[in-house]
Amino acid sequence: MSSETLDRGLVLDAVRVTEAAAIASWSEVGRGDEKAADQAAVDAMRNALNDLDIEGVIVIGEGERDEAPMLYIGEKVGKGGPRVDIALDPLEGTTLTAKAMANALAVMAWAPAGTLLNAPDTYMDKIACGPGYPEGILDLDKTPAENAAALAKSRGVPTEQITVCVLDRPRHAEIIASLRSVGARVYLITDGDVAGVMNTADPETGIDLYIGQGGAPEGVLACAALKCVGGQFQGRLVFRNADERERAKRWGITDLDRKYDLNDIVKADAIFAATGVTSGALLDGVKYSEGFVHTHSIVMNSSTRTVREVRMKRLL
Ligand code: FBP
Repeated sequence: MSSETLDRGLVLDAVRVTEAAAIASWSEVGRGDEKAADQAAVDAMRNALNDLDIEGVIVIGEGERDEAPMLYIGEKVGKGGPRVDIALDPLEGTTLTAKAMANALAVMAWAPAGTLLNAPDTYMDKIACGPGYPEGILDLDKTPAENAAALAKSRGVPTEQITVCVLDRPRHAEIIASLRSVGARVYLITDGDVAGVMNTADPETGIDLYIGQGGAPEGVLACAALKCVGGQFQGRLVFRNADERERAKRWGITDLDRKYDLNDIVKADAIFAATGVTSGALLDGVKYSEGFVHTHSIVMNSSTRTVREVRMKRLL
């Protein structure tokens, strides 16, 4: 085990953290209150982290200190132990949760201290595919049509057989048109691009490629997940104003136009965990039955290349 590898015990600890957040936010599923759902997840995740024997620093969290009182970027968590960088989204899909729609997740990743990109809370252009393709097959500077065609060529299939997951947003009209111009299928999602990227690595989903602009923090989490299962990712930060550019500089980013690959974002081995809040393609949601609360999680360790599905039930 290199110094850049986390202790295996942190695998189960990671699931405990996402389970706690998922269970807490489930109480707000379908109640129309995104803030309450997020707050429940944040409180539970923070308590769970502070109960662990780690010396953790939130690198990707709820925002900067002045805007997020809990799990803010730079907050220290844990009782002491191995030094870890933490990327988290206690509730990935606040709208999905408030509306009781599929695919809301509690997600977290950790990696040795200093090895996760301090991405500011801006947008990021993202492109991702699963394992099995030649290195460098994706390029953000090529058109969506060209990227879909490259995947099809590598697989020896027509572009009509490529399915691309895209967030359903007006800003993605050109991406969608470009993909459809070469016959690719577009699988639109309303929210939740961490799961969108992860879907490319799971043949069961039928999704080959992810393209589009979403949160940069979610990009870091998605990279941690892809690092564990193989796959390729490119991301470039998108700034809408001078304030966002300033934020990036504060976090040490000097080249604002840089194209990041997966290993620039997650520089060492990482552990990634997600627990379903509402049921989706990847995970079942939280369920109460027969006196137990049930959760369904996935936890992955890039250093051992293991993926575990964990079903937990706890007596109420
Ligand atoms: P929240 O859980 O914070 O609402 O994020 C959901 C999400 O869909 C992310 O998965 C995605 O990266 C981002 O929002 C997209 O942002 P926008 O809704 O502004 O297009």
